Amino acid sequence: MTHTEGMAGLARLIDQAKRAVVFTGAGISTESGIPDFRSPGGIWTQMAPIYFDDFLASEEARAETWRRRFAMEDIFRAAEPNRGHRAVDALVRRGKVSTVITQNIDGLHQASGIPDKQVIELHGNTMYATCLDCGSRYEIADLRAAFEGEGEQKGVAPVCTRCLGYVKTATVSFGQAMPPVAMRRAELETLAADLCIVLGSSLVVYPAAGFPELAKRNGAALAIVNREPTGLDSMADLVVHESIGDTLGEVVGVN
Ligand code: APR
Ligand code: ZN
Repeated sequence: MTHTEGMAGLARLIDQAKRAVVFTGAGISTESGIPDFRSPGGIWTQMAPIYFDDFLASEEARAETWRRRFAMEDIFRAAEPNRGHRAVDALVRRGKVSTVITQNIDGLHQASGIPDKQVIELHGNTMYATCLDCGSRYEIADLRAAFEGEGEQKGVAPVCTRCLGYVKTATVSFGQAMPPVAMRRAELETLAADLCIVLGSSLVVYPAAGFPELAKRNGAALAIVNREPTGLDSMADLVVHESIGDTLGEVVGVN
């Protein structure tokens, strides 16, 4: 398919849709400077994920989890919504997209102007932390200052000052339970959609990747914009293997 055919096809699907959902992965944030996971040079090509059980079982795994997170802090802080995020926001504002179902933890969809209630974070959010036992909230900058400072907390994974529970970013790790309310909302929005647009996901992590599949099986059209082929390409109505920012930005008419 030529670039022009891809653009025309995507424009047509969006034009025909009455209620679309957008499903995003790390690929929509790479143009904001945040690396994805499975592209060449992606995070999981550099290090193995730390599973939730290991985080609970081992002080070293907790410290390594936090070392990795703080090493990414300057990248997360510098990241701004890019043209792809702005194009999704434009579709929400036009009433074309009801909800953004995201696997991303960077908060960039909300930063682009989409109201919180129209963003469903399946894998949580890394821009703050909580105590796993009492739910108290902790700010990353404060935790980083203690972890990287010269005090007794230097290099030690943070624990809750209220109940001594383990403190973790508000994200869902491999092996950790998915957020039930987010999952239920994502299911309802997916079933109500007549178009699902996938942006920047390899679609290999379930149950998240099940939502585009559910949309298609439920009769919605499925469009995938992703640089690399995905496991759902064969069931999609349209596949565009190009960069999200240029593709969706051009179709939606935003810079
Ligand atoms: N434009 C289009 N596609 C892109 C771009 C871009 N600018 N940048 C990257 N991509 C594509 C890559 O080709 C890749 O196929 O985005 C996809 C990102 O896939 P992954 O790195 O696997 O990220 P994702 O699908 O979000 O991973 C799902 O895995 O590790 C867990 O919890 C983590 O939420 C994450 C989940
Ligand atoms: Zn606590």
